[in-house]
Amino acid sequence: MERLVYLDHAATSWPKPSEVAAAMMDALDHAAANAGRGNYSLALDTGRVLMRARMQLAELFGVTHAHDIAFTHNTTMGLNMAIQGFLRPGDHVLSTMTEHNSVRRPLEHLRKSIGIEIDYVKADAAGQVDLHQMNRLFKTNTRMVICNHSSNLLGSILPVGDIGDLTKSHGATFLVDAAQSAGSIAIDVGSMNIDMLAFPGHKGLLGPQGTGGLYISPRIDLEPLLLGGTGSQSENSDQPTVRPDRYEAGTQNTVGIAGLLAGVNKIKSLGIRNIHQHEWQLVQRLMEGLERIPGLKLLGPAIGLPRSGIAAFTVEGQDSAGVAHQLDREYHIAVRAGMHCTPLAHQTADTMASGAVRASVGPSTTEEEVDYLLHAMNELYGSKNK
Ligand SMILES: Cc1ncc(COP(=O)(O)O)c(C=O)c1O
Repeated sequence: MERLVYLDHAATSWPKPSEVAAAMMDALDHAAANAGRGNYSLALDTGRVLMRARMQLAELFGVTHAHDIAFTHNTTMGLNMAIQGFLRPGDHVLSTMTEHNSVRRPLEHLRKSIGIEIDYVKADAAGQVDLHQMNRLFKTNTRMVICNHSSNLLGSILPVGDIGDLTKSHGATFLVDAAQSAGSIAIDVGSMNIDMLAFPGHKGLLGPQGTGGLYISPRIDLEPLLLGGTGSQSENSDQPTVRPDRYEAGTQNTVGIAGLLAGVNKIKSLGIRNIHQHEWQLVQRLMEGLERIPGLKLLGPAIGLPRSGIAAFTVEGQDSAGVAHQLDREYHIAVRAGMHCTPLAHQTADTMASGAVRASVGPSTTEEEVDYLLHAMNELYGSKNK
Protein backbone atom coordinates (compact mmCIF):
# COMPACT_ATOMS: atom_id res chain seq x y z
CA MET A 1 0.00 0.00 0.00
CA GLU A 2 1.29 3.44 -0.88
CA ARG A 3 -0.20 5.29 2.05
CA LEU A 4 0.66 4.74 5.69
CA VAL A 5 -1.48 2.09 7.39
CA TYR A 6 -1.86 3.56 10.85
CA LEU A 7 -2.67 0.96 13.50
CA ASP A 8 -1.65 2.84 16.65
CA HIS A 9 -4.96 4.41 17.65
CA ALA A 10 -4.45 3.37 21.28
CA ALA A 11 -1.53 5.82 21.43
CA THR A 12 -3.38 8.62 19.69
CA SER A 13 -5.99 8.61 16.94
CA TRP A 14 -4.87 9.52 13.42
CA PRO A 15 -5.77 10.85 10.96
CA LYS A 16 -8.21 13.16 12.70
CA PRO A 17 -11.57 13.72 11.00
CA SER A 18 -11.50 16.67 8.59
CA GLU A 19 -14.12 18.35 10.80
CA VAL A 20 -11.56 18.54 13.62
CA ALA A 21 -9.00 20.40 11.52
CA ALA A 22 -11.72 22.68 10.12
CA ALA A 23 -12.99 23.52 13.63
CA MET A 24 -9.46 24.33 14.78
CA MET A 25 -8.82 26.59 11.79
CA ASP A 26 -12.12 28.31 12.44
CA ALA A 27 -11.33 28.75 16.14
CA LEU A 28 -7.99 30.35 15.29
CA ASP A 29 -9.85 32.99 13.32
CA HIS A 30 -13.02 33.39 15.36
CA ALA A 31 -12.56 32.00 18.88
CA ALA A 32 -9.00 32.36 20.02
CA ALA A 33 -9.10 35.26 22.44
CA ASN A 34 -8.55 34.54 26.14
CA ALA A 35 -11.78 33.03 27.49
CA GLY A 36 -12.97 34.50 30.78
CA ARG A 37 -10.50 37.40 30.55
CA GLY A 38 -12.48 39.93 28.49
CA ASN A 39 -16.01 41.20 27.82
CA TYR A 40 -15.55 41.80 24.11
CA SER A 41 -17.23 39.55 21.56
CA LEU A 42 -14.17 37.54 20.56
CA ALA A 43 -13.44 36.57 24.18
CA LEU A 44 -17.11 35.73 24.79
CA ASP A 45 -17.22 33.60 21.63
CA THR A 46 -14.09 31.81 22.80
CA GLY A 47 -15.75 31.10 26.15
CA ARG A 48 -18.76 29.68 24.30
CA VAL A 49 -16.59 27.13 22.50
CA LEU A 50 -15.27 25.91 25.85
CA MET A 51 -18.79 25.79 27.26
CA ARG A 52 -20.17 23.84 24.30
CA ALA A 53 -17.32 21.31 24.48
CA ARG A 54 -17.85 20.90 28.22
CA MET A 55 -21.58 20.35 27.73
CA GLN A 56 -21.08 17.78 24.96
CA LEU A 57 -18.57 15.88 27.12
CA ALA A 58 -20.95 16.02 30.09
CA GLU A 59 -23.71 14.51 27.99
CA LEU A 60 -21.37 11.82 26.66
CA PHE A 61 -20.32 10.68 30.15
CA GLY A 62 -23.66 11.17 31.95
CA VAL A 63 -22.32 14.10 33.99
CA THR A 64 -25.11 16.29 35.42
CA HIS A 65 -23.25 19.61 35.68
CA ALA A 66 -20.81 20.42 32.88
CA HIS A 67 -18.76 22.64 35.23
CA ASP A 68 -17.65 19.44 37.06
CA ILE A 69 -15.45 18.67 34.06
CA ALA A 70 -12.07 20.42 33.96
CA PHE A 71 -10.02 20.49 30.78
CA THR A 72 -6.52 19.01 30.95
CA HIS A 73 -3.67 18.50 28.49
CA ASN A 74 -4.07 14.70 28.43
CA THR A 75 -5.15 11.75 30.60
CA THR A 76 -1.94 11.83 32.61
CA MET A 77 -2.61 15.36 33.84
CA GLY A 78 -6.14 14.41 34.93
CA LEU A 79 -4.87 11.33 36.76
CA ASN A 80 -2.21 13.39 38.55
CA MET A 81 -4.76 16.03 39.53
CA ALA A 82 -7.03 13.33 40.96
CA ILE A 83 -4.35 11.27 42.69
CA GLN A 84 -2.15 14.04 44.08
CA GLY A 85 -5.07 16.32 44.89
CA PHE A 86 -6.98 13.67 46.83
CA LEU A 87 -4.61 11.36 48.70
CA ARG A 88 -3.21 12.21 52.12
CA PRO A 89 -0.55 10.60 54.36
CA GLY A 90 -1.71 7.25 55.72
CA ASP A 91 -4.34 6.63 53.02
CA HIS A 92 -4.59 3.19 51.48
CA VAL A 93 -5.27 2.82 47.74
CA LEU A 94 -6.46 -0.20 45.82
CA SER A 95 -5.46 -0.42 42.19
CA THR A 96 -4.79 -3.22 39.71
CA MET A 97 -1.91 -4.92 37.94
CA THR A 98 -3.19 -3.68 34.59
CA GLU A 99 -2.57 0.02 35.29
CA HIS A 100 -0.61 2.40 33.11
CA ASN A 101 2.42 4.22 34.50
CA SER A 102 0.29 7.38 34.51
CA VAL A 103 -1.48 5.83 37.50
CA ARG A 104 1.35 3.82 38.96
CA ARG A 105 4.05 6.48 38.96
CA PRO A 106 2.03 9.16 40.79
CA LEU A 107 0.97 6.48 43.29
CA GLU A 108 4.52 5.23 43.86
CA HIS A 109 5.70 8.84 44.15
CA LEU A 110 3.15 9.44 46.93
CA ARG A 111 4.13 6.17 48.63
CA LYS A 112 7.69 7.52 48.92
CA SER A 113 6.94 11.20 49.52
CA ILE A 114 3.98 11.18 51.94
CA GLY A 115 3.59 7.54 52.95
CA ILE A 116 0.45 6.18 51.33
CA GLU A 117 -0.15 2.41 51.14
CA ILE A 118 -1.00 0.70 47.84
CA ASP A 119 -2.22 -2.77 46.88
CA TYR A 120 -2.36 -3.81 43.23
CA VAL A 121 -5.03 -6.45 42.69
CA LYS A 122 -3.72 -9.36 40.60
CA ALA A 123 -4.92 -9.72 37.03
CA ASP A 124 -5.06 -12.99 35.07
CA ALA A 125 -3.56 -13.46 31.60
CA ALA A 126 -6.83 -12.28 30.05
CA GLY A 127 -6.43 -9.01 31.94
CA GLN A 128 -9.29 -9.53 34.38
CA VAL A 129 -9.18 -8.88 38.10
CA ASP A 130 -10.81 -11.01 40.76
CA LEU A 131 -13.40 -8.86 42.52
CA HIS A 132 -13.51 -11.23 45.52
CA GLN A 133 -9.80 -10.70 46.01
CA MET A 134 -10.30 -6.96 45.59
CA ASN A 135 -13.04 -7.02 48.19
CA ARG A 136 -10.73 -8.80 50.66
CA LEU A 137 -8.04 -6.13 50.20
CA PHE A 138 -10.16 -3.23 51.47
CA LYS A 139 -8.92 -1.85 54.79
CA THR A 140 -10.33 0.71 57.19
CA ASN A 141 -8.04 3.37 55.67
CA THR A 142 -8.83 2.53 52.00
CA ARG A 143 -9.78 5.94 50.61
CA MET A 144 -9.48 5.38 46.93
CA VAL A 145 -9.85 2.71 44.24
CA ILE A 146 -8.23 3.38 40.87
CA CYS A 147 -8.54 1.31 37.74
CA ASN A 148 -8.46 1.64 34.01
CA HIS A 149 -11.59 0.94 32.00
CA SER A 150 -9.54 -0.97 29.45
CA SER A 151 -5.94 -2.17 29.51
CA ASN A 152 -3.64 -0.54 26.97
CA LEU A 153 -1.66 -3.77 26.57
CA LEU A 154 -4.17 -6.60 26.95
CA GLY A 155 -7.28 -4.90 25.56
CA SER A 156 -9.37 -6.33 28.41
CA ILE A 157 -12.37 -4.34 29.61
CA LEU A 158 -12.66 -4.09 33.38
CA PRO A 159 -16.13 -4.26 34.98
CA VAL A 160 -16.04 -0.66 36.21
CA GLY A 161 -19.73 -0.73 37.15
CA ASP A 162 -19.12 -3.65 39.56
CA ILE A 163 -15.90 -2.11 40.87
CA GLY A 164 -17.80 1.16 41.38
CA ASP A 165 -20.48 -0.66 43.41
CA LEU A 166 -17.81 -2.38 45.51
CA THR A 167 -15.94 0.87 46.10
CA LYS A 168 -19.12 2.64 47.13
CA SER A 169 -20.07 -0.16 49.53
CA HIS A 170 -16.72 0.43 51.31
CA GLY A 171 -17.21 4.21 51.37
CA ALA A 172 -14.14 4.87 49.19
CA THR A 173 -13.69 7.16 46.17
CA PHE A 174 -13.55 5.66 42.68
CA LEU A 175 -11.18 7.06 40.03
CA VAL A 176 -11.35 5.62 36.51
CA ASP A 177 -8.67 5.96 33.83
CA ALA A 178 -10.67 6.10 30.60
CA ALA A 179 -7.65 6.52 28.30
CA GLN A 180 -8.60 3.44 26.28
CA SER A 181 -12.37 3.67 26.48
CA ALA A 182 -13.56 7.29 26.15
CA GLY A 183 -15.24 7.46 22.75
CA SER A 184 -15.32 3.74 22.07
CA ILE A 185 -16.93 2.15 25.15
CA ALA A 186 -20.01 3.62 26.85
CA ILE A 187 -19.35 5.41 30.14
CA ASP A 188 -21.98 6.69 32.57
CA VAL A 189 -20.46 8.14 35.73
CA GLY A 190 -23.77 8.01 37.62
CA SER A 191 -24.73 4.37 37.13
CA MET A 192 -21.07 3.24 37.37
CA ASN A 193 -20.52 5.13 40.65
CA ILE A 194 -17.48 6.87 39.19
CA ASP A 195 -16.32 9.77 41.37
CA MET A 196 -13.53 10.95 39.09
CA LEU A 197 -12.94 10.15 35.43
CA ALA A 198 -9.71 11.04 33.64
CA PHE A 199 -9.97 10.93 29.87
CA PRO A 200 -7.91 11.91 26.82
CA GLY A 201 -9.24 14.17 24.08
CA HIS A 202 -6.68 12.93 21.57
CA LYS A 203 -7.45 9.21 21.43
CA GLY A 204 -10.99 7.81 21.03
CA LEU A 205 -12.61 11.25 21.15
CA LEU A 206 -10.70 12.12 17.96
CA GLY A 207 -9.54 15.55 19.16
CA PRO A 208 -6.01 16.93 18.82
CA GLN A 209 -3.09 16.25 21.12
CA GLY A 210 -2.92 18.52 24.14
CA THR A 211 -6.56 17.90 25.06
CA GLY A 212 -8.23 15.83 27.77
CA GLY A 213 -10.29 16.26 30.89
CA LEU A 214 -11.11 15.26 34.44
CA TYR A 215 -14.63 14.83 35.79
CA ILE A 216 -14.74 15.55 39.53
CA SER A 217 -17.89 14.63 41.40
CA PRO A 218 -19.42 17.60 43.25
CA ARG A 219 -19.12 15.50 46.43
CA ILE A 220 -15.33 15.74 46.23
CA ASP A 221 -13.35 18.77 47.28
CA LEU A 222 -10.19 18.08 45.32
CA GLU A 223 -7.10 20.17 46.09
CA PRO A 224 -6.02 21.80 42.79
CA LEU A 225 -2.63 20.76 41.45
CA LEU A 226 -2.03 24.00 39.59
CA LEU A 227 -2.72 27.44 41.09
CA GLY A 228 -2.90 30.73 39.23
CA GLY A 229 -4.94 33.12 37.13
CA THR A 230 -8.44 32.13 36.14
CA GLY A 231 -9.99 35.47 35.18
CA SER A 232 -12.40 35.10 38.14
CA GLN A 233 -12.25 36.39 41.75
CA SER A 234 -9.05 38.22 40.78
CA GLU A 235 -9.01 40.27 43.99
CA ASN A 236 -8.58 37.07 46.00
CA SER A 237 -5.14 35.52 46.56
CA ASP A 238 -6.73 32.09 47.10
CA GLN A 239 -7.62 29.82 44.21
CA PRO A 240 -11.35 30.31 43.41
CA THR A 241 -13.69 27.69 44.79
CA VAL A 242 -16.02 27.94 41.80
CA ARG A 243 -15.76 25.20 39.16
CA PRO A 244 -14.28 24.71 36.63
CA ASP A 245 -12.03 27.74 37.39
CA ARG A 246 -10.66 26.05 40.51
CA TYR A 247 -9.01 23.41 38.33
CA GLU A 248 -8.21 25.45 35.21
CA ALA A 249 -5.50 27.96 36.10
CA GLY A 250 -3.89 29.65 33.11
CA THR A 251 -4.94 30.17 29.51
CA GLN A 252 -6.86 27.24 28.06
CA ASN A 253 -6.06 25.35 24.86
CA THR A 254 -9.10 26.83 23.15
CA VAL A 255 -8.10 25.91 19.62
CA GLY A 256 -7.46 22.32 20.71
CA ILE A 257 -10.74 22.19 22.59
CA ALA A 258 -12.59 23.46 19.51
CA GLY A 259 -11.08 20.46 17.72
CA LEU A 260 -12.09 18.19 20.59
CA LEU A 261 -15.67 19.48 20.36
CA ALA A 262 -15.71 18.55 16.66
CA GLY A 263 -14.28 15.12 17.54
CA VAL A 264 -16.97 14.52 20.17
CA ASN A 265 -19.67 15.59 17.72
CA LYS A 266 -18.25 13.11 15.23
CA ILE A 267 -18.28 10.32 17.84
CA LYS A 268 -21.87 11.13 18.72
CA SER A 269 -22.95 11.03 15.09
CA LEU A 270 -21.25 7.65 14.58
CA GLY A 271 -22.59 6.27 17.89
CA ILE A 272 -20.39 4.73 20.60
CA ARG A 273 -21.97 1.29 20.26
CA ASN A 274 -21.36 1.28 16.50
CA ILE A 275 -17.76 2.35 17.00
CA HIS A 276 -17.18 -0.36 19.58
CA GLN A 277 -18.77 -3.01 17.37
CA HIS A 278 -16.73 -1.87 14.34
CA GLU A 279 -13.47 -1.98 16.31
CA TRP A 280 -14.31 -5.32 17.95
CA GLN A 281 -15.05 -6.95 14.58
CA LEU A 282 -11.81 -5.65 13.06
CA VAL A 283 -9.79 -6.91 15.99
CA GLN A 284 -11.47 -10.34 15.82
CA ARG A 285 -10.57 -10.53 12.13
CA LEU A 286 -7.02 -9.56 12.94
CA MET A 287 -6.70 -12.06 15.79
CA GLU A 288 -8.17 -14.91 13.74
CA GLY A 289 -5.59 -14.27 11.04
CA LEU A 290 -2.66 -13.77 13.42
CA GLU A 291 -3.49 -16.92 15.36
CA ARG A 292 -2.55 -19.04 12.33
CA ILE A 293 1.03 -17.79 12.32
CA PRO A 294 3.31 -20.36 13.98
CA GLY A 295 4.94 -19.13 17.18
CA LEU A 296 2.69 -16.07 17.41
CA LYS A 297 1.06 -15.61 20.82
CA LEU A 298 -1.92 -13.30 21.25
CA LEU A 299 -2.28 -11.46 24.56
CA GLY A 300 -5.42 -10.68 26.54
CA PRO A 301 -8.97 -12.05 26.19
CA ALA A 302 -9.51 -15.01 23.84
CA ILE A 303 -11.06 -14.60 20.40
CA GLY A 304 -14.79 -13.98 20.65
CA LEU A 305 -14.67 -12.34 24.10
CA PRO A 306 -15.18 -8.65 24.87
CA ARG A 307 -12.15 -6.43 24.32
CA SER A 308 -11.27 -2.98 23.05
CA GLY A 309 -9.73 -2.22 19.64
CA ILE A 310 -6.34 -3.50 20.76
CA ALA A 311 -4.59 -6.73 19.72
CA ALA A 312 -1.12 -7.26 21.16
CA PHE A 313 1.11 -10.22 20.43
CA THR A 314 4.59 -11.70 20.53
CA VAL A 315 6.38 -13.74 17.86
CA GLU A 316 8.59 -16.53 19.15
CA GLY A 317 12.27 -15.78 18.65
CA GLN A 318 11.59 -12.20 17.49
CA ASP A 319 12.19 -8.96 19.30
CA SER A 320 8.92 -6.98 19.26
CA ALA A 321 10.72 -3.77 18.26
CA GLY A 322 12.28 -5.65 15.34
CA VAL A 323 8.83 -6.83 14.16
CA ALA A 324 7.44 -3.29 14.29
CA HIS A 325 10.51 -1.94 12.54
CA GLN A 326 10.12 -4.40 9.66
CA LEU A 327 6.40 -3.62 9.35
CA ASP A 328 7.23 0.06 9.13
CA ARG A 329 10.21 -0.20 6.80
CA GLU A 330 8.95 -2.84 4.41
CA TYR A 331 5.18 -2.29 4.50
CA HIS A 332 4.60 1.24 5.79
CA ILE A 333 2.48 -0.05 8.69
CA ALA A 334 2.58 1.80 12.03
CA VAL A 335 2.18 -0.37 15.14
CA ARG A 336 3.64 0.11 18.60
CA ALA A 337 6.21 -2.25 20.07
CA GLY A 338 8.31 -2.83 23.17
CA MET A 339 7.14 -2.01 26.68
CA HIS A 340 3.81 -0.21 26.80
CA CYS A 341 4.14 1.89 30.00
CA THR A 342 2.46 -0.86 32.00
CA PRO A 343 5.12 -3.12 33.55
CA LEU A 344 2.73 -5.00 35.84
CA ALA A 345 0.52 -5.93 32.88
CA HIS A 346 3.64 -7.14 31.04
CA GLN A 347 4.48 -9.19 34.13
CA THR A 348 0.96 -10.64 34.01
CA ALA A 349 1.33 -11.52 30.33
CA ASP A 350 4.89 -12.79 30.81
CA THR A 351 6.27 -10.33 28.25
CA MET A 352 8.71 -8.38 30.44
CA ALA A 353 11.69 -9.60 28.41
CA SER A 354 10.19 -9.66 24.92
CA GLY A 355 7.86 -6.67 25.06
CA ALA A 356 4.91 -6.95 22.69
CA VAL A 357 3.73 -5.71 19.33
CA ARG A 358 0.44 -3.81 19.62
CA ALA A 359 -1.90 -3.11 16.73
CA SER A 360 -4.86 -0.90 17.57
CA VAL A 361 -7.75 0.21 15.40
CA GLY A 362 -10.05 3.23 15.37
CA PRO A 363 -13.37 4.24 13.81
CA SER A 364 -11.67 5.01 10.48
CA THR A 365 -9.75 1.71 10.24
CA THR A 366 -10.86 -0.56 7.39
CA GLU A 367 -10.89 -4.35 6.83
CA GLU A 368 -8.50 -3.74 3.96
CA GLU A 369 -5.95 -2.25 6.39
CA VAL A 370 -6.31 -5.17 8.79
CA ASP A 371 -5.89 -7.62 5.91
CA TYR A 372 -2.79 -5.75 4.78
CA LEU A 373 -1.22 -6.22 8.22
CA LEU A 374 -2.11 -9.93 8.05
CA HIS A 375 -0.57 -10.14 4.59
CA ALA A 376 2.64 -8.49 5.87
CA MET A 377 2.81 -10.71 8.96
CA ASN A 378 2.33 -13.81 6.82
CA GLU A 379 5.02 -12.76 4.39
CA LEU A 380 7.43 -12.04 7.23
CA TYR A 381 6.64 -14.80 9.74
CA GLY A 382 4.16 -17.23 8.11
CA SER A 383 5.07 -20.95 8.03
CA LYS A 384 6.47 -20.81 4.47
CA ASN A 385 8.92 -18.10 5.47
CA LYS A 386 10.19 -19.49 8.75
C1 LIG B 1 -4.49 3.13 30.09
C2 LIG B 1 -3.77 4.42 29.85
N1 LIG B 1 -3.73 5.35 30.82
C3 LIG B 1 -3.11 6.53 30.66
C4 LIG B 1 -2.50 6.85 29.47
C5 LIG B 1 -1.86 8.19 29.30
O1 LIG B 1 -2.61 8.92 28.38
P1 LIG B 1 -2.16 10.36 27.86
O2 LIG B 1 -1.10 10.10 26.86
O3 LIG B 1 -3.40 10.95 27.30
O4 LIG B 1 -1.66 11.11 29.02
C6 LIG B 1 -2.51 5.93 28.42
C7 LIG B 1 -1.83 6.23 27.15
O5 LIG B 1 -1.71 5.46 26.26
C8 LIG B 1 -3.17 4.69 28.61
O6 LIG B 1 -3.22 3.78 27.64
